[in-house]
Amino acid sequence: MKKPEKSAAASYHQHLSLLLLFLYCIFVAAEKDLVGYGYSVRSVAVDYSLKSLTAGLGLIRSSSVYGPDIQSLNLFASFETKDRLRVRITDSKKQRWEIPQEIIPRQSYCTHRWLPENRLKSPVNHQRGPGNHFLSDPTSDLVFTLHNTTPFGFSVTRRSSGDILFDTSPETSDSDTFLVFKDQYIQLSSALPIERSHLYGIGEHTKKSFKLTPNDTLTLWNADVGSVNVDVNLYGSHPFYIDVRSPNGTTHGVLLLNSNGMDVVYTGDRITYKVIGGIIDLFFFAGPSPDSVIQQYTELIGRPAPMPYWSFGFHQCRYGYENVSDLKAVVAGYAKAGIPLEVMWTDIDYMDGYKDFTLDPINFPVKSMQNFVNTLHQNGQRYVLILDPGISVNETYGTFIRGLKADIFIKRDGVPYLGEVWPGKVYYPDFVNPAAETFWKGEIQLFRDILPMDGLWLDMNELSNFITSLPTPHSTLDDPPYKINNNGVRRPINNKTVPATALHYSNLTEYNTHNLYGLLEAKATHAALINVNGKRPFILSRSTFVGSGKYTAHWTGDNAATWNDLAYSIPSILNFGLFGIPMVGADICGFSGDTTEELCRRWIQLGAFYPFARDHSAIGTIRQELYLWDTVAATARKVLGLRYRLLPYFYTLMYEAHMKGTAVARPMFFSFPQDVKTYRIDTQFLIGKGVMVSPVLKSGAVSVDAYFPSGNWFDLFNYSNSVSLNSGKQITLDAPPDHINVHVREGNILALQGEAMTTKSARKTPFHLLVVVSSKETSTGEVFLDDGEEVEMGKEAGKWSFVRFYSQMIKSNVNIRSEVLNGDFALGQKWIIDKVTFIGLEKFKRLKGYKLKTCTGRKLIKNSPVIKASVNSNAQFLTVEISKLSLLIGEEFKLDLELTK
Ligand SMILES: *[C@@H]1O[C@H](CO)[C@@H](O)[C@H](O)[C@H]1NC(C)=O
Ligand SMILES: *[C@@H]1O[C@H](CO)[C@@H](O)[C@H](O)[C@H]1NC(C)=O
Ligand SMILES: *[C@@H]1O[C@H](CO)[C@@H](O)[C@H](O)[C@H]1NC(C)=O
Ligand SMILES: *[C@@H]1O[C@H](CO)[C@@H](O)[C@H](O)[C@H]1NC(C)=O
Ligand SMILES: *[C@@H]1O[C@H](CO)[C@@H](O)[C@H](O)[C@H]1NC(C)=O
Ligand SMILES: *[C@@H]1O[C@H](CO)[C@@H](O)[C@H](O)[C@H]1NC(C)=O
Ligand SMILES: *[C@@H]1O[C@H](CO)[C@@H](O)[C@H](O)[C@H]1NC(C)=O
Repeated sequence: MKKPEKSAAASYHQHLSLLLLFLYCIFVAAEKDLVGYGYSVRSVAVDYSLKSLTAGLGLIRSSSVYGPDIQSLNLFASFETKDRLRVRITDSKKQRWEIPQEIIPRQSYCTHRWLPENRLKSPVNHQRGPGNHFLSDPTSDLVFTLHNTTPFGFSVTRRSSGDILFDTSPETSDSDTFLVFKDQYIQLSSALPIERSHLYGIGEHTKKSFKLTPNDTLTLWNADVGSVNVDVNLYGSHPFYIDVRSPNGTTHGVLLLNSNGMDVVYTGDRITYKVIGGIIDLFFFAGPSPDSVIQQYTELIGRPAPMPYWSFGFHQCRYGYENVSDLKAVVAGYAKAGIPLEVMWTDIDYMDGYKDFTLDPINFPVKSMQNFVNTLHQNGQRYVLILDPGISVNETYGTFIRGLKADIFIKRDGVPYLGEVWPGKVYYPDFVNPAAETFWKGEIQLFRDILPMDGLWLDMNELSNFITSLPTPHSTLDDPPYKINNNGVRRPINNKTVPATALHYSNLTEYNTHNLYGLLEAKATHAALINVNGKRPFILSRSTFVGSGKYTAHWTGDNAATWNDLAYSIPSILNFGLFGIPMVGADICGFSGDTTEELCRRWIQLGAFYPFARDHSAIGTIRQELYLWDTVAATARKVLGLRYRLLPYFYTLMYEAHMKGTAVARPMFFSFPQDVKTYRIDTQFLIGKGVMVSPVLKSGAVSVDAYFPSGNWFDLFNYSNSVSLNSGKQITLDAPPDHINVHVREGNILALQGEAMTTKSARKTPFHLLVVVSSKETSTGEVFLDDGEEVEMGKEAGKWSFVRFYSQMIKSNVNIRSEVLNGDFALGQKWIIDKVTFIGLEKFKRLKGYKLKTCTGRKLIKNSPVIKASVNSNAQFLTVEISKLSLLIGEEFKLDLELTK
């Protein structure tokens, strides 16, 4: 049969339909690329008595990208405190993974208690139809608005200014702005006012700048990736940021409480979360100051653990100490050079075959180590050692045998998961399991009976694994549909860690709990140390999560001995202050690679003002103990000298952190939020509210360009050097090789003590008050005093004293007075104030007279005080120093000076 000839028209039609089919395919293909279509509001109920709003959300249209959508969601917004608004969005039908209450305690909601039928007696307002729905509380500055648009969105605004803080209203042309909620892909995006919004936080990453820069993708998935790598996910996860709004620095905070892997995409005009599990659980903190945001944040996640007084001394560590004589030589080297050394550390070298809780019988034998630690203790020094979570699989190893018997290891396919770390094959304790805490405590107890260490260092707890196990075939946990930007290359999430399909106690998956491991290990170790030692624990953990600050300090991990790493340590340290982990430092002089004399000198100058100050280096690199170079040793004596004089200040900031959550090392804008020029500064920082550190961060530099906010500033190494400004300004300061610029601002009173080789001896020296007088404000300062290692800090009826100082200038009179809370402890210690120095007395020429009064009127002055008054070099400020005072710090006093112009 002959094929009929096609007519031109038929051919035309055929072509047209092919074209249409082709276009349709493109259309469908294009549509297929849409990850979601958003949700619309189905029902809304506002419960005024519970200060909450509930909405039912329905899917607009399905998309199969990254798996099927969840059809209906519940949105629940509520005021948990006047400063904290919570917005939860989750599957309305099925319970999804959330961080268990035992891990991070918070308010819990029975999923159905707000359903209208259950709340007939409450004033529930069922709002229907178009328009927006509001939730507000008269005591709160935050307002929640549900936008009844298609797709829907919600926003959080500031009542007092009308400023929109968070806005998920979709842009209909951009599906990346829609809410998407699938089992393994959740997307939420908020618009930001690009010109006024300044974001900080979302960690852990090494960043070149503290302020987030547009086009950053911030991935959160705990990984053993050296902090020498910029912009990739590191050891910890903190899905928290603060947003400082110019022009006046009004600040709020946002936490997405979620432990799953995620990408946070920041473009300047938006922040978009792409999360591979869990729920949307957002917390908005009203501020309005940066400081108050951190207070509100830590009120939720837990206040920072108090750190023992000794931990503010200087620490020395190295991976690669060879034997006990090596350790002793280092301790002796510090003593000989007259550089304070508080704590000696050992890395994994001390272990037998890298097995936890063992000592290498050849190089670190038990007897010699015991002698070594006892000698440290006799000299008022301390010893901290490392522990890794991986337990060597070895039938003759007690810890392993006990772990197996207690059945506390992470499992996969019904058997303990076999990983590989320093000792070779290992099993990992599962700290989700309460029995693991008992096991861990037992091991610490046994080992402490052998070697009385003072603190523990938790490394490799991301979890680190030297091997990558094969994924379980077809498992969407081991191979989820959306690939987070792990290691900056969308590396599989299982790469070099415990596989996502591994199971924890009560069948929790590694997929969901991965980011919590470091937190759980720190929590178990904290409980163990309190139990075993009965003293305030010191723990240093590499991996952290939201709330880790309750248990542990942190260091920034494996940096390198480069000038960039020196500079980037400042943003890293400031970030951990935001994350509620104020005890933080970077490895001084650099961990990997060979340091140089100049770099090490500049690094100890900066590191002396890290809250946690430890020199640490890698095996195979040159030695970098501070006494090895004369110029480094000289500068170390100078800067650590100032640090040790400032110990009461650091420790009081620790107390403040523990009580309120505020950071020890703070960004400049914390004290000067109204000075927009401070928002980009990350080459300088503050200790507390008024001590500013401006380090040299460049090779060869002998000056530093530093920004000074308005006011009078005084060099803490030489009060005669001052900077006085009516408005903030960039100043070039001399920074010769042996010098770092550290200034104190007017308005501050610092309680200082003397220099010493240990914190214990420093605590025995008399106090010296440095009063930085201001004509514009009352100068204030405070000091918290306790024994430095009581488990709880500042607990009710505990053994502590708190003294607050106030100084005012009225015409030609200047006074200082103290207010004492619980003076008995300080009186019992017989701590005295020996000297009071007033600096910053502007336009006065000399002291006319003075009057001193104690609260009891008792004559406490044994010797008559010695008075020295001097005018500084440029004749701008008078300094008055009154020494030989012998005032008891535990007793209130008032001192008046009369001056002459
Ligand atoms: C901060 O600025 C906003 C406008 O940008 C204003 O509404 C608000 O009152 C200001 N707040 C303060 C404390 O000055
Ligand atoms: C961010 O990336 C986009 C697209 O790659 C680019 O057009 C834009 O200029 C970048 N913005 C910044 C501030 O780098
Ligand atoms: C200890 O290590 C050092 C190298 O740091 C070495 O010179 C010394 O011989 C070792 N001492 C002993 C007792 O092994
Ligand atoms: C187990 O530990 C013992 C004692 O430390 C050691 O001698 C042995 O080599 C270890 N075995 C394995 C397989 O690591
Ligand atoms: C792990 O990731 C690295 C790149 O980041 C890659 O080279 C390697 O092949 C990955 N390993 C596995 C087993 O996926
Ligand atoms: C964990 O899963 C196993 C296998 O599915 C099941 O037999 C067991 O009951 C589960 N345990 C718990 C505590 O849910
Ligand atoms: C302090 O600085 C002043 C002015 O720069 C200088 O004259 C003086 O010598 C310095 N004092 C010390 C102890 O360095």
